[in-house]
Amino acid sequence: MNLQNATIAILGSGTMGYGIAQVCASAGHRVQLFDVQASALERALKNIETLTAKAVEKGKLTAIDRLALLQRIQATTELQSIRADLIIEAVPELLALKQELFQTLEPLQSPGAVFATNTSSLSVTSIAQSLNRPERCIGLHFFNPAPLMKLVEVIAGEATDPALVAETMSFVHHLGKSPALVRDIPGFIVNRVARFYYLEALRIVHSGVANHESIDRLMEGIGFRMGPFRLMDLIGIDTNHSVTQAIYNSYFQEPRFRPNLVQQKKVEAGQWGVKTRKGFYDYPEDR
Ligand SMILES: NC(=O)c1ccc[n+]([C@@H]2O[C@H](COP(=O)([O-])OP(=O)(O)OC[C@H]3O[C@@H](n4cnc5c(N)ncnc54)[C@H](O)[C@@H]3O)[C@@H](O)[C@H]2O)c1
Repeated sequence: MNLQNATIAILGSGTMGYGIAQVCASAGHRVQLFDVQASALERALKNIETLTAKAVEKGKLTAIDRLALLQRIQATTELQSIRADLIIEAVPELLALKQELFQTLEPLQSPGAVFATNTSSLSVTSIAQSLNRPERCIGLHFFNPAPLMKLVEVIAGEATDPALVAETMSFVHHLGKSPALVRDIPGFIVNRVARFYYLEALRIVHSGVANHESIDRLMEGIGFRMGPFRLMDLIGIDTNHSVTQAIYNSYFQEPRFRPNLVQQKKVEAGQWGVKTRKGFYDYPEDR
């Protein structure tokens, strides 16, 4: 299978799904974008339209190419209609959900179809176990925002076919991205290291030593592009919390990865960051 000619389906059109759809469509692929919520799909298409319009304004894309890109993306709420050579899931960080979707879709695809997961922290090996052909499953971990971030972690599960690993590395180059092959450990490399950027900042706020604005100002003041709280708002506080929980549990509840109550309260309050227009900061409609 040459993934460079693949038809692609993206499962989940949230923060990551719509960005990955844009990346794939701009590399010439036909993309089916699936979500259970029609409103999420609407928002996703609107976001892609806005981002690509900005690219035209900046002279990075022609108006004709933009139109062709948009026409390559087809949105659907019908899971049963998904037929693709490459399926990339970007649904919430829940093992059972990811496994169930792959299990449902596998019999509907051709035997060579590839099942890729954008998980940040779950075991690619475990996700692959939901398939009759686990050798066709691989981790393809994009970063947020997907159209801008060059790095993509490629994760081989225990059963992943080595030929698929090589093919996926080439595919990431073809998307104009820079792949890094990493081992299937909880959080892989980036999310394992970055955990402490978020957790230590949350611990400081929890202990009352400093507030989130001060911490962000200090970290940005020494050159980090975004302070930890602004970054959690961008990622999605709910997603970031789920990732911490998954990493904590996967490392047998090592205390250094322990999730934080400040973050949990934000999740419970539905203040999930940019996507809900309120997180540690406020995001009015016009911003
Ligand atoms: N947010 C980030 O910065 C980031 C970065 C890299 C990887 N990831 C990973 O990407 C995945 C998605 O994260 P996100 O931040 O885009 O989440 P999100 O909450 O922004 O979006 C998830 C989308 O999935 C949809 N959904 C829920 N159940 C579904 C189902 N059964 N079938 C199809 N769609 C369904 C939701 O309606 C929503 O639109 C997670 O595994 C996360 O760990 C996130």
